[in-house]
Amino acid sequence: MSSSFGKLFRLTTFGESHGEAIGGIIDGVPANYTINIEEIQAELDKRKPGQSSIVTQRKESDTVQILSGIFEGKTTGAPIGFIIPNENQKSKDYDHLKGVYRPSHADYTYAKKYGNRDYRGGGRSSARETASRVVGGAIAKQILASKGIDIVAYVDQVGYVQLSGEIDYNEIENNVVRCPNAEDAKRMEDLILTTKKAGDTIGGSIVCEINHVPPGLGEPVFDKLHAELGKAMLSINAVKGFEYGSGFDCITMKGSEHNDLFNEDGSTKTNHSGGIQGGISNGMPINMRIACKPVATIMQRQQTLNEQDEIVSLQGKGRHDPCVVPRAVVIVEAMAAMVVLDMLMRNSFE
Ligand SMILES: Cc1cc2nc3c(=O)[nH]c(=O)nc-3n(C[C@H](O)[C@H](O)[C@H](O)COP(=O)(O)O)c2cc1C
Repeated sequence: MSSSFGKLFRLTTFGESHGEAIGGIIDGVPANYTINIEEIQAELDKRKPGQSSIVTQRKESDTVQILSGIFEGKTTGAPIGFIIPNENQKSKDYDHLKGVYRPSHADYTYAKKYGNRDYRGGGRSSARETASRVVGGAIAKQILASKGIDIVAYVDQVGYVQLSGEIDYNEIENNVVRCPNAEDAKRMEDLILTTKKAGDTIGGSIVCEINHVPPGLGEPVFDKLHAELGKAMLSINAVKGFEYGSGFDCITMKGSEHNDLFNEDGSTKTNHSGGIQGGISNGMPINMRIACKPVATIMQRQQTLNEQDEIVSLQGKGRHDPCVVPRAVVIVEAMAAMVVLDMLMRNSFE
């Protein structure tokens, strides 16, 4: 399995949803940076289950224990090891999945590839693994902040409900959806609750902005900045789409409309390039949009396949997310932070 991410700032994660703990090792963390562990925990709290009525009701405190690499509040340069104990596994909730594959989950593909499958919570395919990414991202974010680089993500669409009002960044953490407009957030929340009541799930999208990135980050040709960001985002569970800058809208534009004309200081009057040209940052804000699918586990009866290759009827049950985007916002920020820091380090880091 490929369980490591990044070249110089490198996170390796381990653990399954129903094991003792999940965790990770971050190697290559530069020495002598101040790290606030409470801030890491605050980031984990934004991803944890049970935080509101529109996410899974599993109860996990997701308390991180730092095992190494930080001494007297500063990075030592040694690998940072950490664990997050699993606390609230109800393996019985998954008994009905023994020998049966959920449609559109990772059950069938894991079974075919590995010849075994942890049916309790999806094992390694569970998004529980992403908590370890949030720890890596929280550390990367703190180092980036010391260099003036900040990252913000928010929900801009749930089902057909789009963010249409004014953006107020202070509003993001004021509502359970993590949408930067209170009225739109309410409409999105209502849609998630109605969908949940019907035993169904719904998709959504997240916008991520990275500000004050200096020009020059990105390694053409295969590790272009947008290629690394795309890989980072598409490696998050349930992510189906990634675009940056003008994205798919560029299809209908002419060059005369799309070109970002320069100002004398090298900034541009528009930002259709999304802060990246030729795979290298140009100093403008980097902006991306990430699409998440409606997750596979629905509380309805569906036809599916079992291990004996028979079509059977499966009634979904357990505690699942009706919509992942509110919890995925912080995962998106974490992956973005690790990519940018890794690229900064590859550019001779001070
Ligand atoms: C924050 C988060 C929470 C998730 N919660 C659930 C869940 O409760 N039930 C579920 O079936 N899938 C959930 N998923 C999605 C699955 O992990 C994912 O769909 C599965 O591993 C298959 O991978 P794929 O959708 O990327 O192909 C969640 C994903 C994220 C990012």
